[in-house]
Amino acid sequence: MDRISIIKPDDWHVHLRDKDALETTVPAAIRCFERCIIMPNLSPPVTSAELIKRYRDSILKYKPSNSKWTPLMVMYLTDHTSIKCIRTAFDQGLIFGCKYYPAGATTNSASGVTNLNGLDAVFNVMQELGITLQIHGEVTDSSVDIFDREKIFIDRHLTQIKHRFPELKIVFEHVTTKQGVEFVRDSDKYIAATITPQHLLFNRNDMLVGGIRPHLFCLPILKRDLHQNALIKAATSGEKKFFLGTDSAPHSREDKENICGCAGCFSHHAAIELYAEAFERAGALHRLEQFASKNGAEFYGLKTNSEFISLLRDPWRVPDQIDYRDSYLVPLGAGLTLNWRLET
Ligand code: DOR
Ligand code: ZN
Repeated sequence: MDRISIIKPDDWHVHLRDKDALETTVPAAIRCFERCIIMPNLSPPVTSAELIKRYRDSILKYKPSNSKWTPLMVMYLTDHTSIKCIRTAFDQGLIFGCKYYPAGATTNSASGVTNLNGLDAVFNVMQELGITLQIHGEVTDSSVDIFDREKIFIDRHLTQIKHRFPELKIVFEHVTTKQGVEFVRDSDKYIAATITPQHLLFNRNDMLVGGIRPHLFCLPILKRDLHQNALIKAATSGEKKFFLGTDSAPHSREDKENICGCAGCFSHHAAIELYAEAFERAGALHRLEQFASKNGAEFYGLKTNSEFISLLRDPWRVPDQIDYRDSYLVPLGAGLTLNWRLET
């Protein structure tokens, strides 16, 4: 098989950033996706209807007029988010969900939530209006080992949220552990999870053995192979609860190759090709469409896209770097040969 066609995919989790970063990130998002959920962790974060509108307009300036690509906006939750704030954005048709970052968990999360219990009223109104909660599922307690942060979040917080708001739609974003996969799988229809290409293709040995590879550093951090295998199984199983969310995030080379390098992998240069690689290695290319183009739309209550894309078996080498702002970024898989190439 040298050519496969699938329904055009969507990316249910991406970081585009703002200002001149959009010159790189918007065309890369349009390259193979029809709809993208745009994460709101700018500095300052996107916390109101007004800021969402402004951010969406700035993104749309980079969209060619003949493109059907649609950014789906999300509101950043803080300790001060009010019900009014959610209702206003919802009434104006501006929000596709609300993102929960534990304060300090990742890039630009300093304004995130410090007290989950303080959000009861917000979760209540989201449940009532059918607004999805997108969760960064890690605790930030400094006594918790970084490799256990997701598992402890499930035990301490997610179980409780599920129990107290049983019909709140939740996406467990970038799930990285066997425990996360099992929690989602064993739960009801109101919870699903996104899976990134880096967590399917790599584990912590790839990042740490033989030297530190800062371009594989992302959060939640890559785990051991046992977890990677659970993710591969979930993504390629055809189960409807697991779908594509790249978590692609642009960071300049200097910010990553730094004494305190930042977290994030840029994968939008070759997002669908990277997933195709993972699926082919698992002998499950025939399930790529389900994961990339159907499951997410179904969870969010949208139609699948009407267009198709094709992938050709035509091995190519991922470039070492890509222009970004006045510098470069090192894309996920730099220097690797990928078997599949998007037909353009
Ligand atoms: O590695 C990450 N980078 N994880 C996140 O949760 C955020 C992202 C970013 O915004 O750069
Ligand atoms: Zn993210």
